[in-house]
Amino acid sequence: MWFSIEAMANVFQHFWTLSLLLSLYLIHSISTSHVYIVYLGHNQNRDHLLTSQYHVELLSNVFESKADAKQAMLYSYKHSFSGFAATLNSSQATILANTKGVISVFRSKTVELHTTRSWDFMGLSMDYSQGTPLQLAYGDNIIVGVFDTGIWPDSASFKEEPGIGPVPNNWKGICMPGDKFNPAKHCNRKLIGARYYLTGFERRYGPLNKTGYPEYRSARDSLGHGTHTASTAVGSRAKYASLFGFAQGIARGGSPRARLAVYKICWNINFDGKCTEEDILAAFDEALHDGVHIISASFGLRPPLLPFFNSSSSIGSFHAMQLGVPVVFSAGNNGPDPSLVGNVNPWSICVAASTIDRRFPTKILLDDSISFMGEGLITKKVTGNLDRARSYFYRGVCHPGNLRNRSAVGIVILCFSTVGPVMSEDAEVAASQANASGLIFVQPLTRPIAAASIIPVVRIDIIQGTRIDHYLALSKNRLPTVEILPSATTIRSPPAPVVSDFSSRGPSSISPDFLKPDISAPGINILAAWPPNIPPTVFSTDTRSVNWNLQSGTSMSCPHVSGIIALIKSAHPDWSPAAIRSALITTAYQRDITGDSIQVGGSTKASDPFDIGAGHVNPLKAIDPGLIYDMNTRDYIIFLCNSGYTEDQIKAMVICPFSTCASCCRKKYEPNTNINYPSISVSNLQCETTIKRSVRNVGHKKTAIYFVSTVNPDGVEVYVWPRILIFSPFKAENSYFVTLKPVKASRGRYDFGSITWSDGFHYVRSPLVVQVNTTTSAAQVEAS
Ligand SMILES: *[C@@H]1O[C@H](CO)[C@@H](O)[C@H](O)[C@H]1NC(C)=O
Ligand SMILES: *[C@@H]1O[C@H](CO)[C@@H](O)[C@H](O)[C@H]1NC(C)=O
Ligand SMILES: *[C@@H]1O[C@H](CO)[C@@H](O)[C@H](O)[C@H]1NC(C)=O
Ligand SMILES: *[C@@H]1O[C@H](CO)[C@@H](O)[C@H](O)[C@H]1NC(C)=O
Ligand SMILES: *[C@@H]1O[C@H](CO)[C@@H](O)[C@H](O)[C@H]1NC(C)=O
Ligand SMILES: *[C@@H]1O[C@H](CO)[C@@H](O)[C@H](O)[C@H]1NC(C)=O
Repeated sequence: MWFSIEAMANVFQHFWTLSLLLSLYLIHSISTSHVYIVYLGHNQNRDHLLTSQYHVELLSNVFESKADAKQAMLYSYKHSFSGFAATLNSSQATILANTKGVISVFRSKTVELHTTRSWDFMGLSMDYSQGTPLQLAYGDNIIVGVFDTGIWPDSASFKEEPGIGPVPNNWKGICMPGDKFNPAKHCNRKLIGARYYLTGFERRYGPLNKTGYPEYRSARDSLGHGTHTASTAVGSRAKYASLFGFAQGIARGGSPRARLAVYKICWNINFDGKCTEEDILAAFDEALHDGVHIISASFGLRPPLLPFFNSSSSIGSFHAMQLGVPVVFSAGNNGPDPSLVGNVNPWSICVAASTIDRRFPTKILLDDSISFMGEGLITKKVTGNLDRARSYFYRGVCHPGNLRNRSAVGIVILCFSTVGPVMSEDAEVAASQANASGLIFVQPLTRPIAAASIIPVVRIDIIQGTRIDHYLALSKNRLPTVEILPSATTIRSPPAPVVSDFSSRGPSSISPDFLKPDISAPGINILAAWPPNIPPTVFSTDTRSVNWNLQSGTSMSCPHVSGIIALIKSAHPDWSPAAIRSALITTAYQRDITGDSIQVGGSTKASDPFDIGAGHVNPLKAIDPGLIYDMNTRDYIIFLCNSGYTEDQIKAMVICPFSTCASCCRKKYEPNTNINYPSISVSNLQCETTIKRSVRNVGHKKTAIYFVSTVNPDGVEVYVWPRILIFSPFKAENSYFVTLKPVKASRGRYDFGSITWSDGFHYVRSPLVVQVNTTTSAAQVEAS
């Protein structure tokens, strides 16, 4: 047993949870077969049929017959890389893992899903008078693959932009017909591809019809998430977008002219998207073959992270990178604790979430005389009497489980997040069950953010909340009257951007040599398209229908970057995924709209690279970064060698001429810090160390002179040499060295600096993260 009797005794209230766990445990011990993914590297046999036959043969080795093997196989991945998914028991998996040519065998897991205003805020305004028609000039030739919950194809975001050209002629994708999805009607020059994958999902959760949740057996979205992310990345311009009149404006994606190909891999379980790794890998296999140029993936595994080649997202994105397709992932919503960032592989882009400069200030008036300001999405004035939580909830904890039998009709309840503690959503449901007219939800300073809710909710900070609480205490025998006035929408409200408290933080728990997240983008209260039959709060009791909805998460920040990449790739079709990432990273900004350092939400502190990577994405600068740090096959081979893969395995994984692979592997002692990543992260710095970087001039002027400037991390001397880089038509590429010398005693503390190259016009900045570890082991023993 994996839980103790004591635990059972003292958590009576968790009885249901425990019995659920117990039944899961029983199911687990009875059925010993699971879906495994067997990864074999790149597709050596170019012929798909041969590759598939080979997969069946390989699988037959662990089954009695070929027929049994075929029945166990869920997918054969054969277009863009080689591998398969099959139901196996652990002994079969072990045998396969030890078979020559097999790189990894791992049990498939379930992965979780993690506007108008945001584009103006980032300088990509659609206002023609401002003369920055970047979004209209570029994008036509770019196809963005969105891996998500599907799409609501009828949304205005997926209509054709006026004058959009025909579908790019190298596109091989299709629109699959299905439940409420008619390709002739729903696909057009905007939505050019729609596929869905549910073999893995149904194997795990049962047939769609039997899961108890509504779903379409097609690419149509039954959750809203995929519609929202797709319209954020590439939505066409749509006028009069707003949620209940808030955040009104012209909605559009980052690249309104780019094409959309939808790959539905996440399905509805309890109104949450569940995505299996075998379905995800199938989408990678086909999307790369279809010809997508960018993949946007707003999902990830919860920590602990697995080795890279034991995860389908890493495998899929590794092959995407080799085919020149950048993959953008969300960092996850596991912040603010450090080191829980996900999707940290060094060949894709990992995006943190931050706020935009839009607020929804909401006024609260007590006894017609004292006013407070919170955040809400209040459409109609709410009036009533104010009362404390403890009149309606045991111990004053605003949670549905604590409901007293007392009606709160006509009452606005004051709830504190710190009492319980409770989350806003729980308090909201609890107040609605008590039949309250409204909820004032009190949270720590800098945390309150508006969100759609089932009853009127205003979130205010604890300083004001405490004043309201004290006021209530003074008016002993009488409940004060309260008015909540309709919320306003304000823009250019500092501080902005602010890193979201939920955004997952670095350092990477498996590869600290690469700074993750890479960059931050808007992910709070993003307005984008929404299926009208899904309530904006996704609560079943909510009967409202909307075409646009505000959503928050790194799921929302990821497609912002995907849309920006569509513009960059359209302007620079020959740039590699690493070059594009470099352009984003080295041009990111670290200052908010008032010129102060970017703050961390839910705190009063300035952010560091573990919060936002290189900084906040800056699309206009990323188009013209000056210099780029590119990466090539050699860089990835160094990484694989250092990760312990053998020469044979690397040859199977990396598409490169035989000689290149072999010669690179012999140099395997080159450290990861020399991989040409645009940010520099050195963990466990014990003594003076020199690392190398190379940059290529991509500026308009072929002749350019760049000077370096550095900001030293605390206790580290940084020497960059040479200090001047001269580029000419004959020499577009230059290398430089960075010597890091620890000058303090430290036992693994992280400090931050930067290295910036400038020609006076471009500022090519690399964040520098150093973890000095100079305390001797003897001293460590003494100290502890
Ligand atoms: C796994 O499956 C194979 C083939 O069906 C069978 O021979 C073997 O006994 C099974 N092993 C276990 C541990 O169940
Ligand atoms: C990763 O996969 C290999 C087999 O390919 C297995 O031996 C290893 O235990 C897996 N690691 C984890 C952490 O799951
Ligand atoms: C689900 O059930 C409905 C009605 O029973 C049926 O019409 C539909 O074909 C079923 N869908 C699937 C995917 O089995
Ligand atoms: C709730 O209160 C009402 C009126 O006071 C009473 O009639 C009813 O039985 C109570 N219900 C419960 C479940 O205690
Ligand atoms: C709220 O109203 C519903 C419907 O009128 C009623 O069934 C329920 O008992 C009320 N809840 C409370 C706590 O009074
Ligand atoms: C610091 O160095 C010591 C001694 O070499 C080593 O045991 C320890 O793991 C290092 N700490 C970190 C955080 O790398």
